[in-house]
Amino acid sequence: MQWLIGNWKMAPDTVSQAHLLAKATAAIARRNKKKLTVIVCAPFVYFTPLHSAARTLPLGAQDVSASTKTASTGEISGAMLKSQKVGYCIVGHSERRAMGETDAHVKEKINRLLEKNIRPILCVGEKSRDSQGWYLSVIKDQIESAFSGVAKATIKRFIIAYEPVWAVGAAANRVASPSECREMVIFIRKLVADLYDEKTARAVPILYGGSINEENAASFLTSGEAQGLLVGRVSLVPKQLTLLAAHIANA
Ligand code: PGA
Repeated sequence: MQWLIGNWKMAPDTVSQAHLLAKATAAIARRNKKKLTVIVCAPFVYFTPLHSAARTLPLGAQDVSASTKTASTGEISGAMLKSQKVGYCIVGHSERRAMGETDAHVKEKINRLLEKNIRPILCVGEKSRDSQGWYLSVIKDQIESAFSGVAKATIKRFIIAYEPVWAVGAAANRVASPSECREMVIFIRKLVADLYDEKTARAVPILYGGSINEENAASFLTSGEAQGLLVGRVSLVPKQLTLLAAHIANA
């Protein structure tokens, strides 16, 4: 089973557009249900309308508050997500890290999610690459910080998404190659195995994200050895998402 997670980011603009998009995405999920688990990480305000649009579509959030205090204006708690039937939540996305989110914040957010039995989709990724391989230490620090104090039995709740910052979003420098993805999937798996053990590491899906399209998607799963994809822009365009899902379901 492969994962296909859509990160809608700050889109679409209206509830009715969100409704239509959720319906189209649910249809894609139904068509590919034997091979794909499709999840939509939507803006907070759309959870309730989305339940009525697409009852079967698993929902994720794009962030959660690290705070435990109700006096946290503008924040959304793990308990609120749970009450909206949100089963997954992205943490550590590069766009949030760019707004000041640190590994310490990510760790606290993971705690809030695990307390409510919500599965963290932990994003890790380096800003740039160098020829000596120092970028690997960025990933190591992110993984070790996120998993510090997490019990072995809880690790299988995690989904890790490797998203090199230089390949994410409209300002991406270039798309990563499947071999760069494969190298990182092996590296991340080894890091988790060193912290726990190989069996535990194998239970954590490692996804790839960053400028995925229907042409390159399948190669990240085959030669790239990722167990799924986290897609941004394509998740907002049902025609493109349909093609992408078909390519990866047949990979
Ligand atoms: P993109 O975004 O597919 O638009 O590059 C991916 C992400 O940020 O998760």
